[in-house]
Amino acid sequence: MRVLLTGAGGQVGAAVARRLHELAAARRRDPIELVAADHAMLEVTLRDRVLSLVAEVEPDVIFHVAAWTAVDACEDDPDRAFGVNALGTRHVAEAARLVGAHLVYVSTDYVFDGRLERPYSEWDEPNPLSVYGRSKWAGELEVEPAWTTLRTAWVVGAGGTNMARTVLRLATGSEGPLRFVDDQRGSPTVATDLAGKMVELGLARRPGLFHVTNAGETTWFGFAAEVLRLAGLDASRVEPITTAELEPPRKASRPANSVLDNAALRLSGDSLLPPWQESLERLVRELV
Ligand SMILES: NC(=O)c1ccc[n+]([C@@H]2O[C@H](COP(=O)([O-])OP(=O)(O)OC[C@H]3O[C@@H](n4cnc5c(N)ncnc54)[C@H](OP(=O)(O)O)[C@@H]3O)[C@@H](O)[C@H]2O)c1
Repeated sequence: MRVLLTGAGGQVGAAVARRLHELAAARRRDPIELVAADHAMLEVTLRDRVLSLVAEVEPDVIFHVAAWTAVDACEDDPDRAFGVNALGTRHVAEAARLVGAHLVYVSTDYVFDGRLERPYSEWDEPNPLSVYGRSKWAGELEVEPAWTTLRTAWVVGAGGTNMARTVLRLATGSEGPLRFVDDQRGSPTVATDLAGKMVELGLARRPGLFHVTNAGETTWFGFAAEVLRLAGLDASRVEPITTAELEPPRKASRPANSVLDNAALRLSGDSLLPPWQESLERLVRELV
């Protein structure tokens, strides 16, 4: 089985590559051959480049993880956001069709406006508040129903820029209170858990839309306090603030509630990801 991965240099891409390498090492029959394309190897806004790489690799499955993920910067440059996240996905989808590959696309909780007072299921209507959210939703619309779309949220891993690493950096590099918003709720998701489920669903060519997050929910305030507690640091330094009190204010609006009900997995009887605190404990051990 030949597999092509886009965005291999990013936080999630690196975790997907690792998972595929692990599987490849463990499998005797139907070996996996991975082409892990980072940004330098594949620029998804260049249609010709995408078509020629996919024609050359002839993958059976494409994990399309590349995206412009700078949520606030997207507000200032919608053309770049849509160019990468929507049109880039169109190019990958076109190429997948030409070689008959199964496509796996990763989307975001930021497709929702956060007004619901319960977790969002796959059958709730998106209404993104930000350019990033709109561009990722536009990417979803390029994906055929027979392919796999995952929506995930609040991803943290050993590499890249993420909230677990930011909290530890702030806590060890300064003294005094650390302020985190307590009016945005979500489901933190550890990149290795996400990658495991993404690879499982993708290689099985499972059609349709799946919400995939670690179980449970919290606010950024609750998350930061838990990171410090797990690292053996003083969690009482974390103070709750509202989004309106953030200094400087963020350019992009975020949903107040973007907890994702993993309903498609749950109702299909598929295994769910563990509670976020369990997986975060493993990650924090690795980070400290
Ligand atoms: N992180 C989260 O909390 C979260 C939540 C929900 C969904 N997601 C989705 O999960 C996926 C992976 O996110 P992540 O956290 O791994 O983000 P990330 O670390 O920023 O990784 C994205 C990768 O895409 C690459 N990329 C950017 N523009 C590109 C282009 N024009 N052509 C090819 N590659 C390009 C980036 O390379 P450069 O850095 O070199 O530009 C980077 O390596 C994305 O689709 C994102 O929308 C993430």
